[in-house]
Amino acid sequence: MNLILLGPPGAGKGTQARRLQDRYGIVQISTGDMLRAEVAAGTPVGLQAKAVMAAGQLVSDDILIRMLADRIARPDCAKGFILDGFPRTVPQAEALDGMLASKGLALDAVVELRVDDAALVDRIAGRFTCATCGAGYHDTFQPPKVAGVCDVCGGTTFTRRADDKRETVAARLAAYHSQTAPILPHYAAQGRLHEVDGMAEIDSVTAALVALLDGLRGRPA
Ligand code: AP5
Ligand code: MG
Repeated sequence: MNLILLGPPGAGKGTQARRLQDRYGIVQISTGDMLRAEVAAGTPVGLQAKAVMAAGQLVSDDILIRMLADRIARPDCAKGFILDGFPRTVPQAEALDGMLASKGLALDAVVELRVDDAALVDRIAGRFTCATCGAGYHDTFQPPKVAGVCDVCGGTTFTRRADDKRETVAARLAAYHSQTAPILPHYAAQGRLHEVDGMAEIDSVTAALVALLDGLRGRPA
């Protein structure tokens, strides 16, 4: 199963992609996580991306398209993948169509997580991540069961993203509306676009996604 999860910053793409990965045995490909790893490692791509990301802008299509092509060529993608954060522009969506066609692959679904802009700032401002295993949390909506201790690995060190400041979130939302939302009609025209209410509680969003995907899997070809 090959999926795209679309939605604005803070919509829950990462939260839900990690759950779908575990449930369906397909890999989450987060271009944001990949770029943050490049920044942390100080690679040439990371050096180019660092200031762009900190400003809430999009990194160049050339870099992202090359990065994604390399990633989906890896063997762990053979059973399927969930794209989280890619494509983000019409040229990226068109490049992805070409990449998949050249491999004889197709998208099973493109799911838009719909969330009001007003909810996103609070979601992003409260987000933190386990520095050891990468599990995601939120101060209010998804705190660890024991304060200060990761539910998954027991780690006690947490990080917050450099681009999660309230003032940067506005720029990220503007980039979503001007550059990413225009890809929705691209997938609607292909008959692949589905919507899920991302305003519901995390478990309810997962249930809606699973119902949708199980329904699509059970559908005769
Ligand atoms: P990226 O890392 O993709 O960030 P983003 O799209 O801004 O999305 P987020 O990761 O902030 O949100 P999310 O939807 O994953 O939400 P999450 O599950 O964490 O990209 C970062 C940057 O990299 C970009 O700005 C750009 O510069 C660059 N980049 C990346 N890909 C690119 C590309 N293809 N082209 C160009 N540039 C690219 O949830 C958020 C919080 O809310 C969490 O704390 C969570 O616990 C909580 N939460 C989740 N769901 C719910 C819910 N239903 N109810 C309540 N709380 C919830
Ligand atoms: Mg994310």
